[in-house]
Amino acid sequence: MRKNNKNATNFSSAAIFLIFRLTDFSNLIFNLMDKNKSTGKELLWQSRFSEPFDREALLFSSSVDVDKVLYQEDIKGSIAHVTMLSEEAIIPVEEARLIIEGLEDIEQEISSGALIPDWEDEDIHTVIENRLKEKIGPIAGKMHSGRSRNDQVATDTRLYLKKVIGELGEALDGLKTLLVEKADIYRNTIIFGYTHLQRAQPVSAGHYYLAYFNMFLRDGERLKDLFKRVDISPLGAAAFAGSTLPINAKRSMELLDFSDLFQNSTDAVSDRDIIIEFISACSIIMMHLSRFCEDLILWSSSEFNYIEISDAFSTGSSIMPQKKNADIAELVRGKTGRVYGNLMSILTIMKSLPLSYNRDMQEDKPPLFDSAGSTVSSVRIFTKMLAHTRLNEKRLKTLTGEDLSLATEIAEYLVRKNLPFREAHRITGKIVSHAIEKRTSLPKISLEEYRGFCDLFNEDLYDALTPEASINSKHSHGSTSFASVEQQITIARGKLRK
Ligand code: ARG
Repeated sequence: MRKNNKNATNFSSAAIFLIFRLTDFSNLIFNLMDKNKSTGKELLWQSRFSEPFDREALLFSSSVDVDKVLYQEDIKGSIAHVTMLSEEAIIPVEEARLIIEGLEDIEQEISSGALIPDWEDEDIHTVIENRLKEKIGPIAGKMHSGRSRNDQVATDTRLYLKKVIGELGEALDGLKTLLVEKADIYRNTIIFGYTHLQRAQPVSAGHYYLAYFNMFLRDGERLKDLFKRVDISPLGAAAFAGSTLPINAKRSMELLDFSDLFQNSTDAVSDRDIIIEFISACSIIMMHLSRFCEDLILWSSSEFNYIEISDAFSTGSSIMPQKKNADIAELVRGKTGRVYGNLMSILTIMKSLPLSYNRDMQEDKPPLFDSAGSTVSSVRIFTKMLAHTRLNEKRLKTLTGEDLSLATEIAEYLVRKNLPFREAHRITGKIVSHAIEKRTSLPKISLEEYRGFCDLFNEDLYDALTPEASINSKHSHGSTSFASVEQQITIARGKLRK
């Protein structure tokens, strides 16, 4: 464990810090050159062994560089455990006070950068315990009474998950709020709705944004539901079978603000299903984002030119000066692959593991931390980028007015004149092919020509042949009609408030 000199002046402490880091780094490289050299450090479990742990094996198995992220959760868990131990008279109150004060100091030391967790300490739990021993002596060893690193790490993970689920939920709230705003701003703007990436029917842009609002709404609900299963304290399960000491798991649960307590100590330390569930929820969020990104990337190309992403969220090319790339959207789409990979990774790590704890489970943290970081940052940056993206309304108006995507209106017009839909579809197909041949659009075909296909056509056909009419004639539930979109916006606003 390294300890920086906190008493030095600002300048010299920075210099010392640098020297410390450099020497430490070169020491690390030097020491690793002699991988058989013992670390000289006593590991928590060392006493049973006659030979020191191989240095390369220690480097291989150390998780400090990854699990140091959990230092606050670890210290919080230890303070709760020690408080409970003293309340149950398992350790004297005075000693508990010393331990807790020491832990609070260590939290400061780590957060200020004065203490840099050392990989040779094996994991973050040991970093903290060893530092406590340096500070208060052998009393530090009492902290671990009635506890194992197995329930300790399970507790840290659940506390971490509660925190990141909160952050992700907040980020999603921001996105949902923006989508409702966008839906409101653009509710009368007409865009193409696509199926098979072919222009299908005109829709209100508000309807489009609300489609995503509903997806992210479910994503948020999924997180809330998952939170209930995460919010269960595993502390007090010890290694997996419980403890002979009179520990009070319910009290630890209360102190850590968990809503519920494990029922089975083996289950409490052996499963990582909540991590799998969390990464699945992240994967679904990323899937939604990545589909949205795909639209934005396509729509910002000169071929589509439906939207303008602000310069502040676009990149250029080092060789082609005209380029404006939607890199942020592409990166969000790319990170989706990473998160899916993490899901596969944790599922595979857990597959076939015999009960109860196995060290394989330490490999749960890189996919967990990476998924949380990638998903929270993606939702946040995507929201910011979307807020700085506008629709090219003029171009969309011209394009939607001239397009063949009103063909469904013609078919449904004939259905209203009592023709079976299949027949109406067949006739309309012929009309579309005629329009393509004549290089014209449906509203520009004369009534005479229409009548040549079917004598049910009258002048009133043209009333139906505008994108606005097409949209407004949709009367079914949840449709794209302007009235329906307005209703959906009101409902969405109500859901935002919850
Ligand atoms: N670093 C370990 C992990 O994350 C902590 C638990 C170690 N337990 C053990 N029995 N070796 O899983």
